[in-house]
Amino acid sequence: MEIKRARTAGFCFGVKRAVETVYKQLEEKNDSQPPIYTYGPIIHNEEVIKDMESKGVKVLRNPNDLEHITEGIVIIRSHGVSEAICNLLTDKGLRVIDATCPYVKKIHNIVKKESEKGKHIIIIGNPDHPEVEGIKGWAKEQVTVIQDASEAEKFDIDNKKSICVVAQTTFNYNKFKDLVEIISKKGYDISVLNTICSATKERQTEAHSIAEEVDAMIVIGDKHSSNTQKLFEICQKACNDTYYIQTLDDLDLNQLGSVETVGITAGASTPNNIIEEVQNNVRIIF
Ligand code: F3S
Repeated sequence: MEIKRARTAGFCFGVKRAVETVYKQLEEKNDSQPPIYTYGPIIHNEEVIKDMESKGVKVLRNPNDLEHITEGIVIIRSHGVSEAICNLLTDKGLRVIDATCPYVKKIHNIVKKESEKGKHIIIIGNPDHPEVEGIKGWAKEQVTVIQDASEAEKFDIDNKKSICVVAQTTFNYNKFKDLVEIISKKGYDISVLNTICSATKERQTEAHSIAEEVDAMIVIGDKHSSNTQKLFEICQKACNDTYYIQTLDDLDLNQLGSVETVGITAGASTPNNIIEEVQNNVRIIF
């Protein structure tokens, strides 16, 4: 019985860095020190959030939650936050540890610089996603978020204005290209920066090629995680015997039957210990 575990299974670089930042602060903290907060849940994974909460980490969800906080450490998650939130945190005298993914931080810097030059910023992405909200908050007033073709068609500003286009890091590349093409035809002076991160694509490509080679495929991740759902769809197309589980408890090892090769991958917010537990148990059974 052979197990093929995807190299790209689980946390991407930015999420890993943010989660490790929280645990490092917890390790260094003693009882007399002020509390540790994260601005927004550090990751979309119930197990990890519960574990952090049990160790005393509190989640701040919006500026109102900051009202009565006068001391403590606030860790900014990989999605990043707006400039206004950054300023609010420092103005309150809180110690800020910025775990914004460097790839997202790069977008903040581009948007701030280009916006200061007077350019109109277009963010290709989902306007309700916290990463996009954060990016938007580094531009001046001239900023538009576009997520589909009809919004791109409708986009219309003063023709003399220069435009700078960036993308949400997890946006689909083909969709990004299509939207940029629509906007480019409008005749603006336009500069386009492809700021899509390759981590998601690499995880999907690897999952697909493993699923094609194995008898059964296990996809591990939170049921609400959209990137895990996508991974499951990709694997299911390539391998009929594909299982979607949140933890080892969901896996009925009898279901796997007599297979010779099993592939394992996991969504971006699945911790390594959950992946390892599944991997070890599959190995023991067979
Ligand atoms: Fe992850 Fe950072 Fe890319 S958070 S998906 S490595 S932009």
